[in-house]
Amino acid sequence: MSCGIKRIFAQNLIEMSTNRTFTMIKPDAVENGHIGGILDKITSAGFKIVAMKYTQLSKRDAQEFYAIHKERPFFGELVEFMTRGPIVAAILEKDNAVEDFRALIGATNPADAAEGTIRKMYATSIGENAVHGSDSDENAAIEGAFHFSGREIF
Ligand code: CMP
Repeated sequence: MSCGIKRIFAQNLIEMSTNRTFTMIKPDAVENGHIGGILDKITSAGFKIVAMKYTQLSKRDAQEFYAIHKERPFFGELVEFMTRGPIVAAILEKDNAVEDFRALIGATNPADAAEGTIRKMYATSIGENAVHGSDSDENAAIEGAFHFSGREIF
């Protein structure tokens, strides 16, 4: 990688701190026709979409993206689920993006999610929970860079 490209990559990571988060609309929500409803919730809550793509994860992509969970009993199920159909991946911008987006999506298990949250409205189970939201600024930067090149982020 040339110095110039490295600098652009690092700059993208820096720009993602504190005011950007990464999300995926997962295969269950796509299959159930909820892309439009979820994007409306996201933009109505004040998030600006700075990168977005409709894509499908390979097994290797999902294993790498979720490597932190590889020892968990649900890892195989998670990889199967996340690769079974297309997803929407996006980088979102707003003050306090990571925390505010996690509040908007609600608890991992939709049974525990607050009324009006995306998972309460659209998720069906703890495994098939409609959306992903980064859990820290650092992970938002890593996850965004996993899915998007600098030229795809606006
Ligand atoms: P997310 O928090 O986006 O990223 C990790 C994912 O693992 C989580 O969403 C769920 O989709 C999945 N997950 C977490 N806990 C369980 C569980 N107990 N059983 C099955 N899947 C789970």
